Amino acid sequence: MIDTQKLESTAKALVAQGKGILAADESNGTCNKRFESVGAPTTEDSRRAYRELLFTTPESKQFLSGVILYDETIRQSASNGMPFAQMLAGAGIIPGIKVDKGTVALPNSPEEKMTEGLDGLRQRLAEYVAMGAGFTKWRSVITIGENMPTDACVRANADTLAMYALLAQEAGLVPIIEPEVILDGTHGIARAESVTQKTLETVFASMASYGVYLPGLILKTSMVVPGKGSGETMVATDVAERTARVLKSVVPSECGGVVFLSGGQTPAQAAENLSEITKRGPYPWGVTFSYARALQEPALAAWAGKNENVSAAQTAFAKRLTLAGAALSGTYATSME
Ligand code: G3H
Repeated sequence: MIDTQKLESTAKALVAQGKGILAADESNGTCNKRFESVGAPTTEDSRRAYRELLFTTPESKQFLSGVILYDETIRQSASNGMPFAQMLAGAGIIPGIKVDKGTVALPNSPEEKMTEGLDGLRQRLAEYVAMGAGFTKWRSVITIGENMPTDACVRANADTLAMYALLAQEAGLVPIIEPEVILDGTHGIARAESVTQKTLETVFASMASYGVYLPGLILKTSMVVPGKGSGETMVATDVAERTARVLKSVVPSECGGVVFLSGGQTPAQAAENLSEITKRGPYPWGVTFSYARALQEPALAAWAGKNENVSAAQTAFAKRLTLAGAALSGTYATSME
């Protein structure tokens, strides 16, 4: 028997009005690449120090309902010795954990991806519960291109997401399912809309057929945006119109919440698009952000791996949190940048 009440109340807390989720679950490889781009050292302690500066920014307490951690990070502690998971919980922020093990080529269609990590997941989930996690995340990748996505790619990923979600709920952890429709590509926004629609339809059909408890589930989705190489300009009102249309038509009203990834949008675009999406509510589920890059990029650049820059980095992070917070009430304006 799953603890439906606990799952539902965690999901509600994650999408509480005015708050959102920080994705700080970059794998060490991804984190190091981002550190290299600003000249920061790529050591375990450098990753720890960077996460600490994000988590201890005073505005985190105000604007964050949850933080998604990576396996290394959930085992780390702040410089005062307190484990990060405990420190976040003490600030009223729910610690979450990315539990997928990344993507590999899909057989038969190697330009597409499937996500690994189901083997041994039940045991890993139990360990994360003991470390204080309240929710989990699993990312799947859907690529748009010629003859892509294939039905096999969408279905395989939808089924994997459903099995992961069941295991997380069994452990008492809210699953965030993230079928990310990738921004890269030359497709226009209309194609992005139809692929997102089809992907989410397939994903929720799998959730239903596996019996995933929807009020204890959160969807993390891409916004509907034109492909990076399409030559189309991203217009926030159009993005919001299409995104709201797809979500309202596909996401069951009992779902525990909908959160957005930023997926390579600039911080300003991610805030403006979210603000426009908010204006197209009300929605039957809570809606908020779950950004990594769109919250972190200016802070990472300001920090650049140097202790003396911590305060400037926290100021930059606080600004992104504040603007994402404004987007949640539909009051963000580009003039606030
Ligand atoms: O899986 C990706 C993260 O959870 C969201 O990252 O906002 O940089 O796309 P992003």
